[in-house]
Amino acid sequence: MSMKPIGGYFELELNKFSEYHKDAIALNTARNALEYVLRTSEYQKIYIPYYTCDVMLEPSKKVNIEFEFYHIDKGFLPIVEAIENNAVLLYTNYFGICDKLVEVAARKFSRVIVDNTQAFYSLPVNSISTFYSCRKFFGVPDGSYLYCARSLNQELETDLSEGRISHLIKRLEQGAEEGFAYFRANDASFVGQPIKRMSKLTQALMMSIDYERIKKRRLENFFYLHNALKDINEIRIDLESITCPMVYPFLINKEGIRNALINRKIFVAQYWPNVMEWVDPNSVEFYLTTHLLPLPIDQRIDKSDLDRIVSNLKNYL
Ligand SMILES: Cc1ncc(COP(=O)(O)O)c(C=O)c1O
Repeated sequence: MSMKPIGGYFELELNKFSEYHKDAIALNTARNALEYVLRTSEYQKIYIPYYTCDVMLEPSKKVNIEFEFYHIDKGFLPIVEAIENNAVLLYTNYFGICDKLVEVAARKFSRVIVDNTQAFYSLPVNSISTFYSCRKFFGVPDGSYLYCARSLNQELETDLSEGRISHLIKRLEQGAEEGFAYFRANDASFVGQPIKRMSKLTQALMMSIDYERIKKRRLENFFYLHNALKDINEIRIDLESITCPMVYPFLINKEGIRNALINRKIFVAQYWPNVMEWVDPNSVEFYLTTHLLPLPIDQRIDKSDLDRIVSNLKNYL
């Protein structure tokens, strides 16, 4: 055993609280968490929603199992009668507002894997394999947590995040625009990565977070936007179905709002451009991809920022 160094120069100084998902398996990315589940099970086929990020196709291709796309309805439930034997259905907790639907899907299909990438705070239901992606909720370079009953019988290398923090530092020191290209490059660097254990840097950062403060702020921000926009939002949000959302999903049949907001420095992503290549232009998924505005509600945002979002939106409607 190597001797513990005592004294000398310091490492990055961080708080040593606890991880939120301290009993989960800590890995490098959410897609690799899905690969982990597939490698530890005997499923021969996976049902994947059309409405998801294209990187979610990576795991089934790597593990070489069949996949089939499925449609969702306007209420985010799968339009699937039944799944085949030896198959599993991937269900996404969209925006972190679908906790109840996770339970519905689990009852209906019995073999389900839950993608809680957009619902970091929602705990797994029963013993269903469930995974998370750290950087969607917090300023960390990478990382994923996975609840999975089986463990992979294979040594896993520990990831190194040293080369993946420049966008975080640039956004802090120089602003959002300066860091954006680095953020994109960071996201691109995850393609084709093997399953690794979460890096020590990411794990240390995840231990330094005040989870309750962030949850409280996100919920307050969510409800503030909900009160301002619920009468015109085409998404019917079930408030009983929420633990702590990632964004406020605002759906409206009006073109050009995303760019208008971005021009006013209100950064609203598009989930997920790849979907437009996969589905018919008349489908629910196409409409969601083109018209859904995931409005930011994160822990940096206060009431005056939310008022700015609402007034810019209403000016445009
Ligand atoms: C719903 C959803 N699931 C999974 C992922 C993949 O997460 P990761 O990049 O950590 O593999 C994404 C990425 O954008 C996503 O939007």
